[in-house]
Amino acid sequence: MIIYGGSTGQVLAAQVANKLGAKLGKLEITKFPDGEKYIRYHDKVENEDVVLIHPMGLTPDELFIEYLLICSALKDGKAKSIVTFVPYFAYARQDSRFNPGEPGSFHLVSKIIDDLGIDMIYTIDLHLQRVNDLSELIKNTPTKNLSAVPDIATWIKNNAGLNNPIVLGPDEESEQWAKVAAETIGVDYEIMIKTRYSATEVSITTKEGKPLPVNGKDVVIIDDIISSGGTIIEAVKLVKEAGAGKIVVGCTHPVLRGKTQFDSALANIYNSGVSIVVGTDSVPSQVSYVSIASVIAKTLQNNS
Ligand code: R5P
Repeated sequence: MIIYGGSTGQVLAAQVANKLGAKLGKLEITKFPDGEKYIRYHDKVENEDVVLIHPMGLTPDELFIEYLLICSALKDGKAKSIVTFVPYFAYARQDSRFNPGEPGSFHLVSKIIDDLGIDMIYTIDLHLQRVNDLSELIKNTPTKNLSAVPDIATWIKNNAGLNNPIVLGPDEESEQWAKVAAETIGVDYEIMIKTRYSATEVSITTKEGKPLPVNGKDVVIIDDIISSGGTIIEAVKLVKEAGAGKIVVGCTHPVLRGKTQFDSALANIYNSGVSIVVGTDSVPSQVSYVSIASVIAKTLQNNS
């Protein structure tokens, strides 16, 4: 097996190759003077099982093209199988036309990826709100969504020093992650209801207007992505009003961009009253304390 990392997956690829005792592939990634990507692998891939680890969390447009170029080159090189891990999937949040005149972005991206003819795509805590399963969009390539939430919840349980916590999800979609985190920590969970007005503006209320069952407990808020931080900051307001003790936030993809270039989502979240923020290295960040390398390595081990 040869394991490659795209330009944001190199560390993960090295860690996974190391865990599995597999070969780390040599992938050259540069740019032409006009900004176009140049990629070239330097291994014999013919008849080899090849794995590509390629998170698309930051600069997604560029990383999407890079993904297409790498997969296409490996396919042309007659790899026996091409399995890709795309922990943060570019355009997954645009899974619907929200306004007239918009493209069906995720549908388009899925169609292009499907045409590559690769063998398997794994995602991690993929944001799918209006589509039940990625197979509804990527119809000809097998896909599977993995989760880093058990590892994040275990990290929180072991490191956050929580007293009698409850897990909260900031919106309806987060119930799946809140449930798993609560089971892992061994406590109850509840979700809140979110209304989104724009990419950075949301409001959050309690379910059916009922008080959050917090009552002085420590709180763990779990979500798949923290992007602008707006969701977490709005959720924290309610959690504080409900009389929370310590507030800890966990997410799989710490994109952590502010609302403007000079705004820090992480600083704003800490400033809102959160004690600890923890994410994974699906998007390398100051709070990527949990590595998805073990989820990827375990998946490859179980399928070899
Ligand atoms: C859906 O909206 C997602 O699950 C996250 O809640 C969202 O991506 C967070 O974005 P932001 O940090 O910009 O509120």
